[in-house]
Amino acid sequence: MRTGLSGSTHTITRRQSFAAGALVLGGATTACSSGDEGYGALAEALSAPAEPVTAPFPRSHQQLVRYASQAASGHNTQPWRFTVSDPVIELSPDFSRRTPVVDPDDHHLFASLGCAAENLSLAARASGLGGEVDMAGETLSVALASGAAEASPRFDAIPQRQCTRLEYDGSALSAEERARLIAAVEEGRQVSATVFDSAADKTRLSELIIQGNSAQIADPAFVRELRDWIRFNEAEAARLRDGLFAPSSGNPQLPGWLGRRLFGLVFTADAENAKIARQIESSGGLIALMAEENSPRGWMEAGRAAQRLQLEATVLGLKTAYLNQPVEVVSLRPELATLMGAPGRRPNLLLRVGRGPAAPRSLRRSVEAVIEPA
Ligand SMILES: Cc1cc2nc3c(=O)[nH]c(=O)nc-3n(C[C@H](O)[C@H](O)[C@H](O)COP(=O)(O)O)c2cc1C
Repeated sequence: MRTGLSGSTHTITRRQSFAAGALVLGGATTACSSGDEGYGALAEALSAPAEPVTAPFPRSHQQLVRYASQAASGHNTQPWRFTVSDPVIELSPDFSRRTPVVDPDDHHLFASLGCAAENLSLAARASGLGGEVDMAGETLSVALASGAAEASPRFDAIPQRQCTRLEYDGSALSAEERARLIAAVEEGRQVSATVFDSAADKTRLSELIIQGNSAQIADPAFVRELRDWIRFNEAEAARLRDGLFAPSSGNPQLPGWLGRRLFGLVFTADAENAKIARQIESSGGLIALMAEENSPRGWMEAGRAAQRLQLEATVLGLKTAYLNQPVEVVSLRPELATLMGAPGRRPNLLLRVGRGPAAPRSLRRSVEAVIEPA
């Protein structure tokens, strides 16, 4: 573990937040239908308490895949395919779900696979079904075997974990919370964590994140790609079951045609940067992750570690959200690496942590949609 240094300015999150539009259009909320598979039913199913898997094969493996799919993924692209056979579940990248502008080398895509593998492994272990993770090339596999079920608070936390892009309450992390979050990242010794929780550190990181955010919003291709992954209302979210549900980031629902048209107008650097400044200020701290290896394998390890961090935070009653601008904007990586005490290396992911309210859920595709025939 390393502890961060210091710096200067502001804070909040960017993606999915176009609060100016929220103010202007607060009254224009769509009435959204919820049929059998409407948003409300799907969100409720996503939040159902975790239960160890007891069904026989292949139903058991489908249930494990469901827990895997509840993991975080960049823009909620869910860029994974699962191949299920009796002793093993393989996870491979679904390159049709790339986000080439924000993630041109697929770093986040592989990190997302790592997040899903971590959930899958936890679910298998909690069910007495093995759960050993192996990585070969661009594929991850989770070996299944019969064994003793392990009580697992992180498994129990899977349905409650979410990225909460709202303001937190400004309270500090306790020494115990800090230590447990670091330990969750560094378990397995593949990834190290740097905590930035002094006022000066938060200010420095805030400046860096805002610099990255401004650069991204100045790029029309970035804004277009982000807009295309936003689900502007419940009906869109329930139909596609992926992407960023606007209210998850504190924004109002809008008819899709209107949301897409307004997005470029209201998603401005000034508004987003002010929001980011408030969000960081309200957080207990930020945690940056760096894998030993700079390769798809290392990126998958970073994803596994980030998922462990988010789940441990959930166990502790804390909320988390990613603020990855300084790892996405290539020119900002060296400064973040230096702040992490590892100049010249590539930082992988950056999250903020704190105490805050829950937000509406971003949905997941069905298990059937992500399983390949063996
Ligand atoms: C590799 C990776 C990168 C991410 N980057 C960001 C980010 O920079 N900003 C953000 O708000 N969310 C980011 N997210 C969070 C996803 O948007 C989020 O996991 C997804 O929308 C699903 O929502 P949920 O985690 O609340 O279930 C990232 C997630 C992953 C796994």
